[in-house]
Amino acid sequence: MELRIGLVGFGTVGTGFAELLLEKQGALRERYGLDLRVVGITDLVKGSVYDERGLDLARLLEVSRRESTILSYPGAVKFEEFGSLDLVREDGVDVVVEATPTNLETGEPGYTHIREALSSGKHVVTTNKGPIALKYKELRELAARKGVFLRFEGTVMSGTPCISMASECLRGAEVKRIRGIINGTTNFILTEMEKGIPYEEALRRAQEFGIAEPDPTADVEGWDAVAKVMILANVFMGHQLSVSEVEREGITDLRPEELRAAARGGAKVKLVAEVRKEGGTVLASVKPRKVPSSDPLAHVDGVLNALIFSTDTVGDVLIMGVGAGPRATAQAILSDLLWIYAYTSGSPGKAPKALFP
Ligand code: HSE
Repeated sequence: MELRIGLVGFGTVGTGFAELLLEKQGALRERYGLDLRVVGITDLVKGSVYDERGLDLARLLEVSRRESTILSYPGAVKFEEFGSLDLVREDGVDVVVEATPTNLETGEPGYTHIREALSSGKHVVTTNKGPIALKYKELRELAARKGVFLRFEGTVMSGTPCISMASECLRGAEVKRIRGIINGTTNFILTEMEKGIPYEEALRRAQEFGIAEPDPTADVEGWDAVAKVMILANVFMGHQLSVSEVEREGITDLRPEELRAAARGGAKVKLVAEVRKEGGTVLASVKPRKVPSSDPLAHVDGVLNALIFSTDTVGDVLIMGVGAGPRATAQAILSDLLWIYAYTSGSPGKAPKALFP
């Protein structure tokens, strides 16, 4: 069986996905008889290409690395000639992988890409936080009406499974609170600052290691974690939060002395994200907090992320792992694609295809 992929966005995440797919394609064919084939790519800056026979990912990656566009790949054209909406409406696409940057004000352009893809009967896998934070209910209902899947594992904790893990394995439980560290950039910076390194220098190191974006505002001011908290509230509490309802404070005002003072008392300062049910409503916050060493979050350092799901049936469940990076995010996309394959390739009414390693 083949799944024909239309990839929207060929930046860090899209490129990382192409690299991972290139590495795994052979094993997927051998193990599952699955041909995951990218038939189209569109990128506002790098250009677009569509070929229903499938694209040569090695060549595309090479061209993109060398020239910073894909325009010299055979058949490639400027974005203006074949844009993202052309690609998501193509009959030759089964699944749209949406990997454009997050916009927490409008959800665009991801929102329109996803809406149009679902409307034209395509499954969607996205890593874009904006549309899932702002328009989850509408998009989920549209997917259900169209009989297609909308998957977004990579939006929270990148490739560390938390959305699927908790929604599939905690079925029937009531999630009362979710608390954790869900931004790798700030956690890396705070871990450096604990060693006495000033904020500016810690940020510079994060950028040098490719963890922080050239413009780190979304991470260090807490907006990225706000988007993730909104996604968690949507998925696990059925509650749409607005951006302004999430109490937010970034890490830019913290000084190494504060972190070292906390350390002397056996504590750490972490950017803690929390969403909880309280008195019939849902409250959420993202802010630096002093965390005692008895708290598992005190031991989550560097680019690691962790989430603690507090439930009515099994108490607290901790999920921890890498929370950022192109390869880890690509893993989330791959996992979502294989989930779609498993659920669409079996016989109707029968158990989904078992994909053992
Ligand atoms: N910039 C994010 C982080 C990764 O540092 O955690 C993407 O969600």
